[in-house]
Amino acid sequence: MSTLHVMDHPLIQHKVSLMRDRETGTKDFRELLEEISMLMAYEVTRDLPLKEVEIETPVCRAKTKVISGKKLAVVPILRAGLGMVDGIMSLVPAAKVGHIGLYRDPNTLEPVEYYCKLPADVEERDLIVVDPMLATGGSASAAISFIKKRGCKSIKLECLIAAPEGIARIQRDHPDVDIFVASVDEKLNDHGYIVPGLGDAGDRLFGTK
Ligand code: PRP
Ligand code: URA
Repeated sequence: MSTLHVMDHPLIQHKVSLMRDRETGTKDFRELLEEISMLMAYEVTRDLPLKEVEIETPVCRAKTKVISGKKLAVVPILRAGLGMVDGIMSLVPAAKVGHIGLYRDPNTLEPVEYYCKLPADVEERDLIVVDPMLATGGSASAAISFIKKRGCKSIKLECLIAAPEGIARIQRDHPDVDIFVASVDEKLNDHGYIVPGLGDAGDRLFGTK
């Protein structure tokens, strides 16, 4: 069973509240998403393996630890996932970035894949799939299935806001994938929107509505 990690750090909670506010404009929304994604990435990368190295400080030789060359990739689900990439990359600048394009059919709410470009060595990498919204979970579940078909075995999912339905869907379809969220909201409404949520993340991020 995958583990659900809810990031209840006060800074994250505060910034999520600012993002939820309908008065928050595109510029602030974008900056907040980037900041929260970075703060969350601190936890998402907590289990990166370390190795011991010997270095020379100004005082003496010392044994110390560095990340042991583990290969990472960040995979945003287009469009809204793009808003999470820079924040994460500011912590792990050597990570590669893959893209997976899905949109949710507004009538069926089923995900439709329209783009996929992953690093060539994706099967050797630990992947962090990112999308601010986990609603029905259909998009994230499909994205993870597409990625697994291309050989990737180690996947984590980082989202901002999740509905209980989305979490249950990922845990059912992908019990090997741990989920990191800033908030678990109450429910989905009849249009598949998260309540209270923050509205349409892609539109608020790119100012398209
Ligand atoms: C949103 C969001 C997720 C998806 C979540 O994307 O960014 O990808 O909906 O819904 P689900 O869990 O029910 O699948 P949307 O389809 O609106 O596309 P966009 O990012 O291009 O706006
Ligand atoms: N996609 C969004 O952008 N917001 C929601 O609340 C649900 C799906």
